[in-house]
Amino acid sequence: MDFSQLGHTAVIGLQWGDEGKGKIVDLLTQHFDVVVRYAGGANAGHTVKIGDESYALHLLPSGILRKSARNLVAPGVVVDLEILSGEIDGLRKRNIHVGDNLKISERAHLVMPWHKMQDKLAESSAGDAGKIGTTAKGIGPCYADKMLRTTALRVCDLEDAKRFRERVADIAKFKNQMFAALYQGADSIDADAVANDYLALAEKLKPHIADTTQILHERIDAGDRVLFEGAQGSMLDINHGTYPYVTSSACIAGGVCVGAGVAPSLLNSVVGVVKAYSTRVGSGPFPTEQNNDIGNRIRERGHEYGTTTGRPRRCGWFDAVAARHAIRLSGVTELCVMHLDTLGTFDEVRICTAYRRGNDTFKAFPSRADVLASVEPVFETLPGWSVDRPEVDSFEQLPVEARSYIERLEVILGVPITLVSIGPERTATLHRAAGVGASV
Ligand code: IMO
Ligand code: MG
Repeated sequence: MDFSQLGHTAVIGLQWGDEGKGKIVDLLTQHFDVVVRYAGGANAGHTVKIGDESYALHLLPSGILRKSARNLVAPGVVVDLEILSGEIDGLRKRNIHVGDNLKISERAHLVMPWHKMQDKLAESSAGDAGKIGTTAKGIGPCYADKMLRTTALRVCDLEDAKRFRERVADIAKFKNQMFAALYQGADSIDADAVANDYLALAEKLKPHIADTTQILHERIDAGDRVLFEGAQGSMLDINHGTYPYVTSSACIAGGVCVGAGVAPSLLNSVVGVVKAYSTRVGSGPFPTEQNNDIGNRIRERGHEYGTTTGRPRRCGWFDAVAARHAIRLSGVTELCVMHLDTLGTFDEVRICTAYRRGNDTFKAFPSRADVLASVEPVFETLPGWSVDRPEVDSFEQLPVEARSYIERLEVILGVPITLVSIGPERTATLHRAAGVGASV
């Protein structure tokens, strides 16, 4: 990948999240002027490793770790001020500059304490069979209130303290009634305490609150290059994912336009990020899941535990049916394959190229979660490689089987794989000339 040649670019996860988007954004930021988070909230967990230091970012764009980048949290993000403030403090303690380089949209919606309560109450009352397995960060209830409008609050609502207190009191009263009617043992919300906490946080965060849409348009007009940092993954997209086992935002490239406020024609490149295998956290169908020694081995080798919740991730082989679907949804122009090192030492590695159900084989991605849950993956099996963690600095130096795996993936997916990651560090990154086998 020739980073310096990319125009305005979106980095999009093509699986169920946790693909390694943080590392890619971090590698790209030195070539961009502005980094934008446009969807999701603190349910995201983007890990960036710089030397011996590891940073887990939830709400802040990963560009915050590069001195040169301007970072915007756009209207489409749902902002939890408590988490945001904690994240800023944590970075400052580690001598990362957070000042004028960070702006939060006044149009963004606020995640309120009752959203987190509602998320947890709804999940626990649904029980193991019915729950979505959310991150409990209040994301779904916040987006639901945003769509409902009358029970939502935005960052700009904090400007008028008196009105904010009134709105908090009204909404808290409504939520208290709702929780008492629906859930046993729900705590009561203290509206005054909530309003006080939020107004204090707003005072602290005031220097960062701005009209990010205006800033973004001005920077684009001035010739700045913009990187849009996707959160979650395409299979978790509210419209196109494995509904209802999805998140509540648009995770595909189209989400950039609605979330950040830019035209579809602005995007020059869409960089898709996939892991060399698949993972999923929470409930929902996962055709290539290996609920066995293979899955356990992938989890341990890849440290597949949630950055946001610490939950063990479900692991399985690469699902090319889902990935092809995601590539089309976002118009992916090039691919980064992450965690190739994790697949080392397996005797053989597998790629799911189709789904089978009874006598039917299909390559399209099913709409229904129950149908997806009932399909059998059709696997193509390739030889594995014995090298545990390859310490190489070019793609050509990888074991031949590892190269063949990537080349085969590229043919199956039909998009050039221009970057392969073999470890979390910035240096463990192998670039490939664009389009090597893609047109074969
Ligand atoms: P990043 O940006 C992985 C999953 C949750 C759950 C479903 C709904 O790190 O890739 P939510 O709390 O959003 O209502 O949960 O979506 N999920 C993620 N999984 N990575 C993420 O973000 C995720 N964000 C949400 O586990 O299954
Ligand atoms: Mg995550």
